[in-house]
Amino acid sequence: MSDSLRRRLRVLPDFPDLLPAFDPVLAPSDPVELFLNWFEHALAAGVLQPHAFSLATATAESAVSSRMLILKNIEPAAAGVDFGAWQFASTRGSRKGRELASNPQAAMNFYWATLGRQVRVVGEVFLLSAEASALDWEERPGADSQANPEWQLYALHPTEVEFWQASSDRHHIRHRYDR
Ligand SMILES: Cc1cc2nc3c(=O)[nH]c(=O)nc-3n(C[C@H](O)[C@H](O)[C@H](O)COP(=O)(O)O)c2cc1C
Repeated sequence: MSDSLRRRLRVLPDFPDLLPAFDPVLAPSDPVELFLNWFEHALAAGVLQPHAFSLATATAESAVSSRMLILKNIEPAAAGVDFGAWQFASTRGSRKGRELASNPQAAMNFYWATLGRQVRVVGEVFLLSAEASALDWEERPGADSQANPEWQLYALHPTEVEFWQASSDRHHIRHRYDR
């Protein structure tokens, strides 16, 4: 069973044959601008849930966990926030909420399979205001009128953003922004 699984996994294609071009030399100096370029491209290409990403967190004792979330917004770069503020929302009492409360470091990973593109974002997470969190709760599709005092809007301020483009010749391209 495990041997046949191994062989079935081995023959699966890693990436589609047709992949978009990416020349890091032409990339903008602002990673938010490049992310928005890639995001628009993913939307136009019909990528399902291009706003979904995995969020990795860890306890103060370094026990790690990850899960999928939805990107809510990206505030552009500002003084002290060189690579923008990448927003997501969840409940404060959830595992991720508790882990972020004791250890605010986190990593996001976006993956657009049909384009062979990945974006990795690492940084510190901050709690946004109760008003902004309530607004996010109210704006959810199909939201009811009940408030949710547990709901929290978070902003990750990246220290690193890495853009990764698969290439059919296996010379995959990485373009990294470091603060
Ligand atoms: C595509 C996708 C998007 C999701 N988006 C969110 C989200 O924006 N916020 C959220 O709290 N949970 C979201 N979830 C559920 C989380 O993945 C997770 O199951 C839940 O938040 C509990 O995680 P935790 O126990 O690690 O805190 C999403 C799940 C999927 C598959």
